[in-house]
Amino acid sequence: MELPSQLRLSLERELRGHDGAALAREAASLSARYRGGGELTGPQRPTTALAYAATRMPATYAATAAAMAALDAGLPGLAPRTLLDIGAGTGAALWAAASSWPGLEAADLIERDATMLALGGRLAAAGGGAVAGARWIRADVLGPWQTAPHDLVTAAYVLGELPEAAQATLTARLWALAAGALLLVEPGTPRGWATIRAARERLRAAGARIVAPCPHEGACPLPDDPTADWCHFAQRLARSRAHRAAKGADLGYEDEKYAYIAVARPPGDLVGARVLRHPVTRPGRIELTLCTRDDLRRTVVTKGDREAWRLARNLEWGDGIGPEALALPQ
Ligand SMILES: C[S@@+](CC[C@H](N)C(=O)[O-])C[C@H]1O[C@@H](n2cnc3c(N)ncnc32)[C@H](O)[C@@H]1O
Repeated sequence: MELPSQLRLSLERELRGHDGAALAREAASLSARYRGGGELTGPQRPTTALAYAATRMPATYAATAAAMAALDAGLPGLAPRTLLDIGAGTGAALWAAASSWPGLEAADLIERDATMLALGGRLAAAGGGAVAGARWIRADVLGPWQTAPHDLVTAAYVLGELPEAAQATLTARLWALAAGALLLVEPGTPRGWATIRAARERLRAAGARIVAPCPHEGACPLPDDPTADWCHFAQRLARSRAHRAAKGADLGYEDEKYAYIAVARPPGDLVGARVLRHPVTRPGRIELTLCTRDDLRRTVVTKGDREAWRLARNLEWGDGIGPEALALPQ
């Protein structure tokens, strides 16, 4: 996956003239804060917003776009015309939604930090339609803000930054504002998954219909301890030269791990099973870890089982399998 070219070029323009080494240092301290379980609290310096856009936004864009693809596959009739994104940062979810649904007409983005908001607005000015026309609203999502319901509501990489009690209140509020669907995306860490899992339970209790990634709407079969096992996926994204420079990295790509839940008002077309790990391929056999409609299971497909083999050899981590999942050994 790659960034939309207008976003990539706009980002490169913003980065021009900035000292690459200073930005890389800023980005390194940013990622150290994240690795330490920290968050982007308090007002940011403009260079922090730029370092975020250069080093994290490509990955949050890619993860959010991948989760949107799963939402779209499970609810093809959604075709949102309006988007509400909270904790919008520099606008990753806006760009991802506009790429996923070309019929998107209008977007409201809520962001507390003035420097993120200003940079996001400048980047979006280079986009077309709903991206350029988005309304950037400076507000604390935990404070008193008002908006009408939107077809699609998103919160990417933000819920987990909020106190637990606030997560519950905000999830209920976002669901109330979702006329069509609500998508929550978090880092693919045990902590990110714990945030998603708690939100899943709250949304289920509120009557939301699950669309993805789960193949069922029942209780999650994974262990309660998120460090024992956690539901997450990986999205590969190409790194541009500017992205590599800001990260001080040589590799031309990176894999962003993420966790997500997509729910909606109408029921979705649930997958028959979801691939929860990289399939392990050995001579003559493929080992799959699957979440199915009935349980969590490890399945071994052997080459002799031709129908199952044909299916299994094309599967990747995160793929949803349709009714043909029945061909796999139980
Ligand atoms: C990790 S960034 C994610 C940005 C963007 N959603 C993305 O996926 O790239 C978290 C963003 O949430 C914003 N944020 C955190 N708490 C907030 C709050 N209470 N109200 C509004 N924005 C908040 C931060 O300022 C930051 O821009």
